[in-house]
Amino acid sequence: MKALVLSGGKGTRLRPLTHTMAKQLVPVGNRPILSYVMGHLQSAGIKEVGVVIAPETGDEVKGYLQDGSNWNLSITYVLQEKPKGLAHAVKTAAEFLGESPFVMYLGDNLLGTGIAEAVQRFEKGGMDGLVFLKKVPDPRAFGVAVLDDKGQLVRLVEKPKEPPSDLALVGVYLFSAKIHEAIAKIKPSWRGELEITDAIQTMMDMGCKVEGEVLQGWWLDTGKKDDILQANAVVLDEYAARNIEGAVDEGSTIEGRVDLGAGASVIRSVIRGPVMIGSNARIVDSFIGPFTSIGDDTIIQDSVIQHSVILEGAQVRGVKRVEDSLIGRNTRVVRGENHSDALRLMIGDHCQVEV
Ligand code: DAU
Repeated sequence: MKALVLSGGKGTRLRPLTHTMAKQLVPVGNRPILSYVMGHLQSAGIKEVGVVIAPETGDEVKGYLQDGSNWNLSITYVLQEKPKGLAHAVKTAAEFLGESPFVMYLGDNLLGTGIAEAVQRFEKGGMDGLVFLKKVPDPRAFGVAVLDDKGQLVRLVEKPKEPPSDLALVGVYLFSAKIHEAIAKIKPSWRGELEITDAIQTMMDMGCKVEGEVLQGWWLDTGKKDDILQANAVVLDEYAARNIEGAVDEGSTIEGRVDLGAGASVIRSVIRGPVMIGSNARIVDSFIGPFTSIGDDTIIQDSVIQHSVILEGAQVRGVKRVEDSLIGRNTRVVRGENHSDALRLMIGDHCQVEV
């Protein structure tokens, strides 16, 4: 069993962060999303991984994953010149995949359960396809599945205006080599992409054995700001442990599951977990509330922050309440010295500011 991780695409819904970084490298719980994906592949016993990259962000993805040895994986990079769809990405990786069955993992998705059991079920069941489904309140942004009375998969449709069910397709799929035959038969969709959803439907029409399984654990698609915040909260809830490597002065209180990186310092502040604070961060005269991740080399002074993700090198000073926020690398959010109501802003393209 091989794996194909899709780490190309444009990431337009996460602008401005994705002007300068791959969306699959945005951190949750202070670790890039891709690191969780690689961990899941490793735990499932997979060794050979193809990573689909885009020309714009490929070098950064390569720089992070390198040859995969950090996860005991061997990585082959596959350059997809244009984001022409998930099935197009599979087509581009055809040489790497050969006749092997494979798990396809979208690099911006996270599964709470990992994939080890699914891989076993797929292999034992002699299947050509296994897809995961999850009930969502608004399925219009996803592939949507219809099951019959017996729970068998009968139909799949990509981003329908009028969803035939509330079961979304999760971004992790298992395929036999039959998927290549199906991809060869499909045409680009109305949005100009070769859709994996259409290819799976075609496999079903070809009489292949394709099963759908409703996922019990959590699933997160980290395409937008609020998705990142939710993913961060879920990951901190699940994985944060109390681990204080940095220095905490006598005037500070650390409550609950707080991970404080090496070289970080907390001065006259309260940190209420679950919280992760990266190495060499400085937290001074501040309150850091639950479900917040603060990256390396940050400075938080005289501020209150909760339910937020602050990336490395950012500074927040004198801001009495930051909530539900995603703040990019080396960004400065500072309340001016004169405390006037005037806002003085220098904000990049495609930003959102709520005041
Ligand atoms: O997240 C689950 C959904 O993922 C499914 O419900 C949909 O059926 C499926 O089509 C997909 O929809 P999205 O519109 O969310 O896919 P997105 O364009 O965000 O791409 C998913 C990942 O694949 C992302 O990490 C970028 C990468 N990608 C995307 C395209 C279109 C590529 O590597 N190459 C591509 O050509």
